[in-house]
Amino acid sequence: MKRDSRQDASLREAALRALENAYAPYSNFRVGAALRTRSGELITGCNVENSVNGLAMCAETLAVASAVSQGLTEFDEIAIATEDSEPTPPCGACRQVLNEFAPNIKISSYTREGKEATWTLQELLPYAFALNPSRGRV
Ligand code: THU
Repeated sequence: MKRDSRQDASLREAALRALENAYAPYSNFRVGAALRTRSGELITGCNVENSVNGLAMCAETLAVASAVSQGLTEFDEIAIATEDSEPTPPCGACRQVLNEFAPNIKISSYTREGKEATWTLQELLPYAFALNPSRGRV
């Protein structure tokens, strides 16, 4: 599907709405994410932290997991929203998770104040790790 500014706006709004559901009482760094699937659905995620250090789940990874659990595995774009003063790029682990399904995905990041940055995953994760899928199979 061709991208247009209306699609960008709806993806941004979905990420900003997901940000409202972020559960981040430990870091106070709230993140929302919205994926646009090849078939046009918008699937969201937010970060979910835990009393146990190290169990925090990132918004982008949860959006991917939610989409995959609904049978949606092709993604064109992801929007990220935070309350930081500058647009936040996805963490390294989320880049690798995105690469599994969408090595050419476009990534847009937004602040509440309307700042925006965009990258391609190729720019943020050159030389991604990948196993040969036939490895280990008989
Ligand atoms: N976080 C995300 O949700 N996505 C990222 O790409 C970077 C970090 C979350 C994890 C944790 O809850 C908080 O932000 C601070 O690291």
